Amino acid sequence: MPNDPHGLREGEVSVSLPESTDASLYFIGRIRTPWTERKQCPKNARQSRESGAICTVEVDPRWAQALAGVETCSHLILLYWMDKARRDLVIQRPGHYDTGRATFALRSPVRPNPIALAVVELRKVEGTRLEVDGVDCLDGTPLLDIKPYFASTDAIPDAQVGWHADRNGIKTP
Ligand SMILES: C[S@@+](CC[C@H](N)C(=O)[O-])C[C@H]1O[C@@H](n2cnc3c(N)ncnc32)[C@H](O)[C@@H]1O
Repeated sequence: MPNDPHGLREGEVSVSLPESTDASLYFIGRIRTPWTERKQCPKNARQSRESGAICTVEVDPRWAQALAGVETCSHLILLYWMDKARRDLVIQRPGHYDTGRATFALRSPVRPNPIALAVVELRKVEGTRLEVDGVDCLDGTPLLDIKPYFASTDAIPDAQVGWHADRNGIKTP
């Protein structure tokens, strides 16, 4: 599909961004992965796990004490900053979709605050380096936060994304 002069795909809509930001944040580390180009990157945590790639989270040593107890967790929630994503689209059409979709109904990295999340399996901890299975980002992607994944409160096995199920021809209640 041809792009227009502003780099939009057909059906995409951009808005002007606010003149200033409302908050600042600290990058607490970097995520090391085998992927240096978006087209190589898994699209989600499941594809990442299926790729067999073990990735490394390098936490800034400043935060070493904040990692105590993390080694006891089997799974973690990682929040990371998709630093190569544009931030002004309200309707977007990821390459693998045939129609535009609203930003907040998608897991695309393109969003006003390009924060991504993944539930990863923690394989190994060596000081401030964590080996994990299940991230879907480019090598060097900034890390924002690490939280324990509580299956007891975070898992909602019957959760639905209606439009996605319908897209695949599956009827939702
Ligand atoms: C669909 S997003 C999902 C991210 C996260 N799992 C989530 O659900 O919030 C994953 C895609 O973001 C893109 N991506 C990865 N790292 C990026 C980065 N640092 N900046 C911009 N885009 C990135 C790649 O195309 C990758 O396939």
